[in-house]
Amino acid sequence: MIKRYSAVVLAALALLLGACTSAPEPAEDDSLYQALGERDGIERMVEELLFRISEDARIVDQFQGIDVARFERTLTEQICELSGGPCTYSGDDMVTVHRGRDITEADFNALVENLIEVMEHQHVPVSAQNRLLAKLAAMRGDIIRL
Ligand code: HEM
Repeated sequence: MIKRYSAVVLAALALLLGACTSAPEPAEDDSLYQALGERDGIERMVEELLFRISEDARIVDQFQGIDVARFERTLTEQICELSGGPCTYSGDDMVTVHRGRDITEADFNALVENLIEVMEHQHVPVSAQNRLLAKLAAMRGDIIRL
């Protein structure tokens, strides 16, 4: 009984000690961030994506009048954060931003198609492309036709 009790006390102490010494958090997985070329690579991707959107007759009209500098900054932050990089997204949530814009599945696919072309053009490894696309696909429901 005493043995069992001391084992519990020891375990509690170990936990407490762990909390107090606050060992550093295990490093987050930033392998996708690295594969995208870190902040510079992501900035280049977003820059080229905006250019391609501006040339894409299927969706360009939906971006008329937006604050391009802000879009460029927040999209960069978002991809950086999503990929495990040291960034904090400072924009609004995806539902608020896209609500009422009547964005269709075809619009969404057109933007993703542009992004794939950008990543191909910038030699992002296919495995990294797929990992990023999977993260963006998870946002689809927040973006289309709300
Ligand atoms: C993977 C898909 C998408 C992602 C990750 C995404 C992400 C974002 C982000 C991060 C912003 C900036 C939010 C802010 O600064 O607060 C934004 C804004 C915007 N997005 Fe998207 N978006 C996606 C798809 C689309 C599509 C398909 C369209 C239309 C064809 C669209 C139209 C817009 C517009 C017009 C804005 C500017 C809103 C404003 O300035 O008020 N987005 N998006």
